[in-house]
Amino acid sequence: MSISLIARSIGESVTLKLNETAAILRAKGEPVIHLGGGEPKSKSPIDALVNASALINSGEIRYTPADGTPALKQAIIRYTDDFYRRKVEPENVMASGGAKQAIMVCMQAILDPQDEVIFPAPYWVSYPEMVRLCGAVPVPVLPEDGTFYPRIADIEQVVTSYTKAVIINSPNNPSGAMYSEQFIAEIVELCERRGLYLIMDDIYHRLIFDGLRPINCYDYAKDKTENSRLVVINGVSKQYAMTGFRIGWAVANKKLIEVMTNIQSHQTSGPSALLQHAAVGAINGVQSSVESLRLTLENNRNVMMEQLNAFDGVRATKPDGTFYCFADFKVYGKDSTKLARFLVDKVRVVTVPGVEFGMEGYLRLSTCGSVKDITEGVERMKWALDPNSPNELYIGDRKLVRDWR
Ligand SMILES: Cc1ncc(COP(=O)(O)O)c(C=O)c1O
Repeated sequence: MSISLIARSIGESVTLKLNETAAILRAKGEPVIHLGGGEPKSKSPIDALVNASALINSGEIRYTPADGTPALKQAIIRYTDDFYRRKVEPENVMASGGAKQAIMVCMQAILDPQDEVIFPAPYWVSYPEMVRLCGAVPVPVLPEDGTFYPRIADIEQVVTSYTKAVIINSPNNPSGAMYSEQFIAEIVELCERRGLYLIMDDIYHRLIFDGLRPINCYDYAKDKTENSRLVVINGVSKQYAMTGFRIGWAVANKKLIEVMTNIQSHQTSGPSALLQHAAVGAINGVQSSVESLRLTLENNRNVMMEQLNAFDGVRATKPDGTFYCFADFKVYGKDSTKLARFLVDKVRVVTVPGVEFGMEGYLRLSTCGSVKDITEGVERMKWALDPNSPNELYIGDRKLVRDWR
């Protein structure tokens, strides 16, 4: 079979694969604890559901414009004004099938083969593959000081004449680190100075803790014109617990949005009318579900930190936001894929290997589940990994016996 060179370079989405593994094990009645997931468990906002039902009951669900319905674009314009104090026009906005598609289409619009795209590590698993899908070259940058907080010098050092774009995701999947205002100001300045696109993946920007406030990249932009190469990505998946609705968006200069819309029009056409209408409900509706999700996640983060701090040898940095914790498990094995596989096999706890995010020896643990999932999940991991654990562990009435060291 003949497969293209680009397609051959693309790996599967490990996180989606893990969801599948967890679902298969659960269907077999296995007592799985899924600490690998990337979606909140709360219900979608009522305003989203009401809008979706109203449209479905009308029986008239049609094609939409390739860049999104006027109503959704208006909602995104208002959102941008509310959260970024930035007044944009409909021509600055494109809605997509999730933030993922918005980022992908943006890359297809700006990248030529051999172009380089820089992003700090640890990074979201899809960035390198998306860059490769464009025939371009991913350039991950590990902070030299060993933290999850990139420094501008680390980034500037890898800028070459091939660099086309920088992607910043803060707060960050998988580390939960929210980069400082100073860093955001510096990266905006660097990209303006070097003529680079700056893709701000703000998908988690409202899910932050400890009294932190979302950082607005536009505050630091000198270029407020239609020449600006700043692209802001967002969506309803995480903040409104609407992952299955698949609605995200990009806000950028009009020319770029026009080109992105052309691409999207041939790729998928506009996103589903039904789901865009639901997203309008979420964005324009009562916002209390976002705060309630944020509070739950902050509490879950605290529980996860307590559990991990009491786990011998594990080093965990307190996340500033998101629903992930990226902990250093090197003391229990340098190969994170092997370690994650071991934990599924022995104690049915699903985690995501750090190597997928560009940092070997770490595991990403999700805090989207219940407090019980977090405590019991980490307890099981401790039992499996700590050689001083008792020989037996009960999961419900199932007895596990250690047959490994
Ligand atoms: C950093 C980051 N960006 C984008 C996305 C994609 O979001 P969506 O579900 O809207 O496509 C995710 C989803 O996991 C993510 O973690």
